[in-house]
Amino acid sequence: MKIWNIVIILGFGATMLLAGCASENQSAHRSQAILDMKRATDHHSYSKPDEAVVTHLHWDAVVDFDTRIIAATATYDIRTASDAKRILFDAVDLDISEVRVDGQETPWEVGPDQPFIGQPLSIPVTKDSKQVSISYSSSPDAGALLWVEGEQPFLFTQSQAILARTWIPCQDSPGVRFTYSAEVEVPKGTMALMSATNPTEQSPDSRYSFKMDQPIPSYLLALAVGNVEFRSVGAHTGVYAVPELIDAAEYEFGEMEQLLVAAESLYGPYAWERYDLLVLPPAFPFGGMENPRLTFATPTIIAGDRSLVALVAHELAHSWSGNLVTNSTWDDFWLNEGFTVYFEQRIMEAVYGSEISEMLATLSYQGLVDEVDEIMDTNPDDTHLKLHLQNRNPDDGMTAIAYDKGCFFLRLLEQTVGRDKFDAFLKTYFETNAFSVMDTERFIVYLKANLLQDKAQLEAVNLDAWIYGAGLPANCPEVRSARIERVDATLSGWESGTIATADLPWNDWVYQERYRFLSNINDATSADRMAELDATWQMTSTGNNEVLFAWLEQAVRSTYTPAYERLESFLVNIGRRKFLTPLYRGLVETDQKPLADAIYAKARPNYHSVATGTMDELLRTPE
Ligand code: BES
Ligand code: ZN
Repeated sequence: MKIWNIVIILGFGATMLLAGCASENQSAHRSQAILDMKRATDHHSYSKPDEAVVTHLHWDAVVDFDTRIIAATATYDIRTASDAKRILFDAVDLDISEVRVDGQETPWEVGPDQPFIGQPLSIPVTKDSKQVSISYSSSPDAGALLWVEGEQPFLFTQSQAILARTWIPCQDSPGVRFTYSAEVEVPKGTMALMSATNPTEQSPDSRYSFKMDQPIPSYLLALAVGNVEFRSVGAHTGVYAVPELIDAAEYEFGEMEQLLVAAESLYGPYAWERYDLLVLPPAFPFGGMENPRLTFATPTIIAGDRSLVALVAHELAHSWSGNLVTNSTWDDFWLNEGFTVYFEQRIMEAVYGSEISEMLATLSYQGLVDEVDEIMDTNPDDTHLKLHLQNRNPDDGMTAIAYDKGCFFLRLLEQTVGRDKFDAFLKTYFETNAFSVMDTERFIVYLKANLLQDKAQLEAVNLDAWIYGAGLPANCPEVRSARIERVDATLSGWESGTIATADLPWNDWVYQERYRFLSNINDATSADRMAELDATWQMTSTGNNEVLFAWLEQAVRSTYTPAYERLESFLVNIGRRKFLTPLYRGLVETDQKPLADAIYAKARPNYHSVATGTMDELLRTPE
């Protein structure tokens, strides 16, 4: 057995990286390297970019559905320090067959496995090494991948936060950026798509070439393979979906170009040339994922009436907050998500008006208050904007804190300095830090220097309370939506019996109002009253999955069993974790665990590892 030695590089200075840089390209890398020097340590990666760092990936891969294996060679251009001895990659269950450094076969070492973060792959290099290539196969159980079987085989990846290492050996840290190119061979009758330049038609030889010329972090590496078609919806925008959904997708996302135009007029030019959206199978564990040039999205946002496009605004906003200016480590996740929720609401306001965006903000506020209460009971430190994810799964940081507390913090900044000044600040922030990383501490310095120069304003904001403090600070901005207030009044009327079910203005309500009503029904509401709603508004057959979800959650809490058939088909067919968690939890909390277990036994094979990870934990039988 090999003994794994971790070499600690001490006193490694920026000057060492400067040696030998000549071309313009290299000097761009050099300024990046200097920036990286200030980078906070990423507890979720073994890579030591200060010693040796990747700058470009060429990925040559064959995708095999029968064995559920991707066989590939990852060839990296690298940059090394003058005393570099090795380059470290992250890897999980990769079966490595050969490693070459500048064409020469080289021995490699794989260190011990650690929970969540996997294994370090160490390859000896010197200061003169230029290229490393790794031939390997991914495991059939690779955490990022979901292989969907059946008549329509489909494969997709989900790399964020630290799953890229399950399908490509990489320096899997958000602070390491690289450009990439790829050649991918897939089965006949399928198209391959990546977070890169994409085809719009199937290739007769089943081989596809990709290029991503803007440097990205590894968590934005993405691949999808399936029988999809493309439709253009604007000059720079389009949709991909399976033939059965392509018409619906074309209509649903028909306003994408307007969203893009609105985003650019808020915070500056779009850096990624095209913005397309791929509709994934319903097993996709998230609503959306901001893979550059190609957002991955759940089909559950196809409602037929464009009512759920805020999610597209969100993923599009990440093209600035996240993809351009990237959280340095997962502890700084709010810099990605809080900025993005704020930006999403601004895009929604610009395109659909403030009535809609303020309803969204009000729903976001309610979600935040509920989740803060919940987390404060168990782990108050998890309500800090700056997270503490060392030795934990970075997924734990995916709560309303990063998203909504982050957004409300930015709203407070806007309110404090005024919208014009705040917009100018954000625009410059994205421009100045483009293709680079930001951590919370550097952001505070930047904020003080460029926005909160006024002492009184700085004190009024109370950065410490927001960023390092628990709960929701007292100066959290208030949101008001007259329409949501009317819904609340209607709900109390319905609950107290002054408003009859038949008189509810359901048909006048848009999705946000319906969702507000359903998600606030008292848990003690009887099954009879649920039946009344169902009979009047045919809840169980709504085509809006957000509304259906809110209805089913209430049905579970009221033990309204006529909805259980629909509940089961929903849970078996849809793998979006945001829906699964409250539904299974609702069953557990209302003494219906055997039903939860029975449904989960059927559904589990359809879910992605991100979802099974959470549900296994939730449904684990306590010892
Ligand atoms: N980047 C996230 C998804 C993500 C975060 C995946 C962390 C893995 C780890 C994406 O932009 C997102 O926030 N999706 C939300 C949508 C939204 C409108 C808040 C989702 O999927 O629910
Ligand atoms: Zn997001």
